[in-house]
Amino acid sequence: MSEQFNQRRDKRKISSWFLYGTLAIGLASAFTALFNNTVRSSNPPELDIYSPGAEHGICQQVPKLSPRNKQVEQYVREKVESVEYHGEIINKLSGIIRIPSESYDDLGPIGEDDRWNIFFQVEDYIKTCYPTVFDNVKLDHANTHGLILTWEGSVPPSEAKPILMLAHQDVVPVLEENVKDWTHPPYDGHYDGEIIWGRGATDDKGYLISIIESLDLLIQSGFKPKRTVILAFGCDEEISGENCGRPISDFLHEEYGDDGIYLIMDEGSTGIQREFGQSFAMVSVAEKGYLDVGINVSSTGGHASNPPDHNVIGILSEIVVAIESNPFPGKVTPKNPMFRFLECGAVHAPQSSFPQAVRQKLSLVAEEDSASQEQLAQTLNDMRYFFKTSQSVGKINGGVKINAIPETASTMVNLRLAVETSIAEVEAHYESLAIPIARKHGMAFAGFHSPCSTAEKRKICMFGVDALEPAPVSPVDAEPYRILSGTVKNVLKSLGPDDDLIVTPYLMPANTDTKFFWALTKNIYRFTPVNLVENLNRAHTTDEFIRADEFVREPLFFATLILNTDDIVG
Ligand SMILES: *[C@@H]1O[C@H](CO)[C@@H](O)[C@H](O)[C@H]1NC(C)=O
Ligand SMILES: [Zn+2]
Repeated sequence: MSEQFNQRRDKRKISSWFLYGTLAIGLASAFTALFNNTVRSSNPPELDIYSPGAEHGICQQVPKLSPRNKQVEQYVREKVESVEYHGEIINKLSGIIRIPSESYDDLGPIGEDDRWNIFFQVEDYIKTCYPTVFDNVKLDHANTHGLILTWEGSVPPSEAKPILMLAHQDVVPVLEENVKDWTHPPYDGHYDGEIIWGRGATDDKGYLISIIESLDLLIQSGFKPKRTVILAFGCDEEISGENCGRPISDFLHEEYGDDGIYLIMDEGSTGIQREFGQSFAMVSVAEKGYLDVGINVSSTGGHASNPPDHNVIGILSEIVVAIESNPFPGKVTPKNPMFRFLECGAVHAPQSSFPQAVRQKLSLVAEEDSASQEQLAQTLNDMRYFFKTSQSVGKINGGVKINAIPETASTMVNLRLAVETSIAEVEAHYESLAIPIARKHGMAFAGFHSPCSTAEKRKICMFGVDALEPAPVSPVDAEPYRILSGTVKNVLKSLGPDDDLIVTPYLMPANTDTKFFWALTKNIYRFTPVNLVENLNRAHTTDEFIRADEFVREPLFFATLILNTDDIVG
């Protein structure tokens, strides 16, 4: 996944908040109970549908789903348990980590910039590891380094839509000066008997090897799919996705058309995690949106002995203050998958571990009570960015010389859009903040959809740089999600000694290549079938690693998913 690091740190904060914040929540709920008693007396919490033991259809769990073909299932399970297989798949991961397929922000086009050539090595390596797979699939290239492997089913895609699994071959670069901070060099693929170390171990070469290994296991078992299975490997997920992600999506769209794919699996910043004293398999069913806003303020310069009262730096500062003084409101709404997660916590977590102040608000939130939606976001302040559009002024430039009046000042703001909002809404908010400031200083204003006039000397220009709408929320009441849930129940284990693993929808604050695939299916699920806290928190930073005992079981999950989605083909 890209742009993960900050979210990871946030997530650690969330975990500790859940661990240590129970007392504060207890106090808060005591106050809430005091103040709300009269208002809420008609709806006492103990009769609430979110109380444990209450009759409800909330966060319903599906039973374990086992493939019908027991022979194939048995073959894969036995293989995944065998020591020989462990050695082989660990070697395969170590080997692909040794190829430093870094993607850089300033890469030129494929075919022109030689730094892309390393991806030929990745392709050769995968082919060497998986000769049987390549004998059985059709291989297509999208823009040279995007790899599309199609394992054709016996039923045509028009009758049984293919299942698509995504992974990316590129990794976030390791800066030369940071190499010394690694316990084991980032591109050694060192295995210490317990852990596989190196850049890409989790993000995303572990996932890539796992999904192709699952195909290998199924082919070796003699299984013949009815439903077509497609694997697609991007080459630039960590930068823009324009070089491989988009061409792969174009290729598949051409081949299968709108809504032509049954289900897409991709890496997630979510996996198995314990919250509220309960183990969850967190399936991200949406991603926040993204917008980089540029703001340029220009005026005439001059000598500093004769300055205007406000120059471009002061005016830009006013805009920044206005932006920070008018943050986007936080709101927990039923549209947000995180609301589903809270519901799952309320009905499945041990009663004493789930904050009462949250439980009490859920009914009103579900009824679209706006005040309760805002209050709940406040209660959950430590995880607020799941519930609001975030904004961060990341860059500011202006002025060249102390005794010269600056002619331009500019800033860049990074925003992550809440699932309920849109780029247009965010743009309108920013324009409404800047227009009065432009007017006050007698300056021209050009918003997001008008050109920054060159004729105008005194002006404020606002423009979008990178923009991505929030992802559509994938359905959780549909067959593909039920099959995925049943597969999770069948293959994966809870983290506690005696709790059930609860499958819950979740929200991914970062973005994946799935942003190109919205037209191909409504059913896009981002999920990594490992213990999130133990394995994923080092992605994009030093000492990235994956635990071998969990990694070697990932292919069992993907193979079972393929079998289960095949079983429902008529
Ligand atoms: C905004 O300012 C930056 C930095 O001075 C400049 O590179 C960029 O071209 C400007 N953009 C517009 C639209 O004026
Ligand atoms: Zn990734």
